[in-house]
Amino acid sequence: MKAQELIDTAGTLVAGDKGLLAMDESNPTCNERFARLGIPQTEEARRAYRELIVTTPGLGECISGMILYDETIRQQKKDGTPFVKVITDAGIIPGIKVDTGEEEMAGHPGEKITGGLDGLRYRLAEYSHMGARFAKWRAVIAIGDGMPSRGCIEANAQALARYASLCQETGLVPVVEPEVLMDGEHTLERCGEVTEEVLRTVFNQLHTQRVTLEGMILKPNMVLPGLTCPQQEGVDKVADATVKCLLRAVPAAVPGIAFLSGGQSGELASARLNAMNVRFKSRLPWALAFSFARAIQQPALEIWHGEEENLLPAQQALYHRARCNLAARRGAYNAAMERM
Ligand code: 13P
Repeated sequence: MKAQELIDTAGTLVAGDKGLLAMDESNPTCNERFARLGIPQTEEARRAYRELIVTTPGLGECISGMILYDETIRQQKKDGTPFVKVITDAGIIPGIKVDTGEEEMAGHPGEKITGGLDGLRYRLAEYSHMGARFAKWRAVIAIGDGMPSRGCIEANAQALARYASLCQETGLVPVVEPEVLMDGEHTLERCGEVTEEVLRTVFNQLHTQRVTLEGMILKPNMVLPGLTCPQQEGVDKVADATVKCLLRAVPAAVPGIAFLSGGQSGELASARLNAMNVRFKSRLPWALAFSFARAIQQPALEIWHGEEENLLPAQQALYHRARCNLAARRGAYNAAMERM
């Protein structure tokens, strides 16, 4: 019964050409983004911003799931309605980030290991009780001199698999996020090699830890050249390299792949997802969807700027990006949509 529920929830998360909206920034990350725009870094400002997101009209047309953070899942609208109820009433599935962030990895200078396994079973039970139906855990892998090391890849893959297994035990769909970072001068090819190695290791560990692949979502990076690589490839090359890598490393039993945006602009992230669906959609075993934070939220955050009077235009900007990504899943996104 539980396995069927997991499969149904995972299927719903990628059905109807919708995708996930990640609004699971930890308080320090959210504060950092607020600070850059001069927005006060208070619990009330974070709550007001999250209220703006969850009350955006029409979001349920494009968004299947929202990923919350521990603070956010406990918060309410100003009128006292819990966010989880607002989200559910909009036809959107609430989810929760459950890792506790990345830490320096012992013996591996410059590399990180994600924490949060201790006590996870009990936290998952609490979140499930609060209405969450899926969870997210992010591992970060840096490319650089001698990096990533085998030790870093294996430790992070094992943590992802142990988290995923605990999620499924609780009836939560794990969103498994191994992120190969964009920072660096590396080429598109190097990102492809590293991403493939990381994904192969992750799926080996998921198998070892008895994770049901049909009841999970993979949240990977796109295969991209490093931010400071002089050779910045076009949209079609990125689409080809990304799909080639995924076809090699992601089993067909996985129902959906929902990309993170990783610091790409909203427009580029939509254009790249669109190109993948235009070129390959009919030939792929899994759905290619999105699970963006910055690439959906950033324009709305900048317009809002902490001011109540900017609420409506900020919500319009959020809805616009969500619609662009719905179109990208259909292979129907184009630059003209950005002028509407
Ligand atoms: P970005 O889309 O901003 O990379 O965020 C996705 C996410 O959930 C990071 O963990």
